[in-house]
Amino acid sequence: MATPNGNGTNGHVGRVVQIIGPVVDVEFTESYLPPIYEALRITSDGFDVPEPINVIAEVQQHLGEGRVRAVSMLPTDGMVRGMKAIDTGGPITVPVGEGTLGRVMNVIGDPVDNLGDIPHQQRYPIHRHAPSFEEQSTELQMFETGIKVIDLIQPFVRGGKIGLFGGAGVGKTVIVMELSSTTSRKRVPAFRFSPALASARAKATTCCARWSNRRSSTLANPSITTWKRRALST
Ligand SMILES: Nc1ncnc2c1ncn2[C@@H]1O[C@H](COP(=O)(O)OP(=O)(O)O)[C@@H](O)[C@H]1O
Ligand SMILES: [Mg+2]
Repeated sequence: MATPNGNGTNGHVGRVVQIIGPVVDVEFTESYLPPIYEALRITSDGFDVPEPINVIAEVQQHLGEGRVRAVSMLPTDGMVRGMKAIDTGGPITVPVGEGTLGRVMNVIGDPVDNLGDIPHQQRYPIHRHAPSFEEQSTELQMFETGIKVIDLIQPFVRGGKIGLFGGAGVGKTVIVMELSSTTSRKRVPAFRFSPALASARAKATTCCARWSNRRSSTLANPSITTWKRRALST
């Protein structure tokens, strides 16, 4: 099994020099600067603290003079200046493979569903290039959601993108929760929801499908396909 984040080190250890919420500045000596996206493990070793600190932060910016600005992946409560920031010698990685299907993990790849360890042979960095065209399937395959009205009337394409547009209370959240539940129960790889992106896109678009029949059932209402098509064609 590959080692989890931060168990390794390349021997470089910095010190925390500033903490502003989740943003942590770290100073390294001997003109060493960890690369962007490097994972740093900040620990409270040698400090008298009520709760030991052991958090992973990701380098985002080189500030110069041996300093980097990193973003902590866990709360920085109790962290103080001078604490050790160990360069783990690599980026943040998460488990990949069959064992991850149907599981929930946080951004540093630890399981958060109380179902124990995630069995895996390999971990991948969280920042990767998209697969090249040669590596992608050219087959048009249906993404089976298990939701009858979607699979029958408006099937999704595997690997495609779907947008949900609508006013408040029309059932967007219910559909997304249903999708997430049906696809994870069947352990289908590849269901990822990006709420931030979705809401940014929803704000940016001028064609916000308006659906006056607010409180009626989204899934039962056939007009869903009309507004979804309209939304998707923008
Ligand atoms: N398919 C459905 N069948 C019955 N009631 C639904 C359905 N979809 C949504 N609702 C009702 O509408 C409410 C609001 O839906 P929600 O998904 O939270 O809306 P949105 O996220 O679009 O604002 C839900 O709490 C539920 O009571
Ligand atoms: Mg909602």
